[in-house]
Amino acid sequence: MSKTTVNDSATVKKELNEFEQHYFSSYDNYGIHEEMLQDTVRTLSYRNAIMQNKDFFKDKVVLDVGCGTGILSMFAAKNGAKHVIGVDMSSIIEMAKEIVELNGFSDKITLLRGKLEDVVLPYKKVDIIISEWMGYFLLYESMLDTVLYARDKYLVEGGLIFPDKCSIHLAGLEDSEYKHQKTNYWQDVYGFDYSPFIPLIKKEPIVDTVDAHVVNTTKNKIIEFDLNTCTLEDLSFKVPFKVEAKKQDWINGLISWFDIVFPHPKGKKPVEFSTGPFAQYTHWKQTVFYLEDDLEAEKGDILKGELVCQPNKTNNRDLDVKIKYEFEAHGIDAEDRSKKNECVYLMH
Ligand SMILES: C[S@@+](CC[C@H](N)C(=O)[O-])C[C@H]1O[C@@H](n2cnc3c(N)ncnc32)[C@H](O)[C@@H]1O
Repeated sequence: MSKTTVNDSATVKKELNEFEQHYFSSYDNYGIHEEMLQDTVRTLSYRNAIMQNKDFFKDKVVLDVGCGTGILSMFAAKNGAKHVIGVDMSSIIEMAKEIVELNGFSDKITLLRGKLEDVVLPYKKVDIIISEWMGYFLLYESMLDTVLYARDKYLVEGGLIFPDKCSIHLAGLEDSEYKHQKTNYWQDVYGFDYSPFIPLIKKEPIVDTVDAHVVNTTKNKIIEFDLNTCTLEDLSFKVPFKVEAKKQDWINGLISWFDIVFPHPKGKKPVEFSTGPFAQYTHWKQTVFYLEDDLEAEKGDILKGELVCQPNKTNNRDLDVKIKYEFEAHGIDAEDRSKKNECVYLMH
């Protein structure tokens, strides 16, 4: 099989639209890869999932979708894969070539530059797809589209996808101080009224680490994806949610996170990780959707509604999220405290 080669890109970057050019440029620089490599929850989960399942990888042809610096390709090659094909559109793949050679994997790993959708693979079919495609709120960046494309075009019947299960979770949180600070600032900027910014600020979900102790409701898994079977259409969804207040407190927003599970033999514990507030830090942090209302909750009150998520029509790597909610308070002042509303967000 071919040696490691970094050919001219199969995709002409200048011919991509401005959003795509910007997206792939964001992965050109080493800084973003350093952050991902140093995220040990992320990177060690992939390594463990491959190492603990060497039997799956033995003598298999593996496709690494969006190989970046080549780390997942090398994990696969080191753990018995017959050959690994790494594909990336960003110029970071030039560095991956050097690294793969330096580490003695040139005869096991072929690197191809270009969009996965445009490259010609040296194999018609692959046995395993590995990819780290997850974005904020799981689906931001829409890279899962590419993994599904690779699955449908290249994966053999019964082939494996690492990881193959993921889910999004929601809970309520108290974060009055930051929520109000964020909007109040624009009321008086050096003595001037900057309030036209406020509707824009409210539309933006916040990606940040949230202390577990501010989560004050039960949690709700709102959606699960099985990468073996899900379709592109499934990635636009409308789902109900329902959480219950655990104590008397304000609920100012909804915090969301995702969990990831890797394939595993029957009866064996899977490698999995969570990006939630109760788990170890990851670079995905959590995503907070502040609600229009501050809800005055008593223990047992219910916050329910529906969440709609779909790729933005102008830039499909951005996400449009709509949250309709109904807060059902109980007790003598239930009528005053109960609220209904709808909020629209853009993750960009
Ligand atoms: C989140 S990074 C992961 C990098 C590496 N696999 C790792 O785990 O460190 C995703 C990579 O996928 C690449 N990528 C995203 N969509 C792609 C596509 N359609 N074709 C080729 N590369 C793509 C990006 O350029 C980026 O380097």
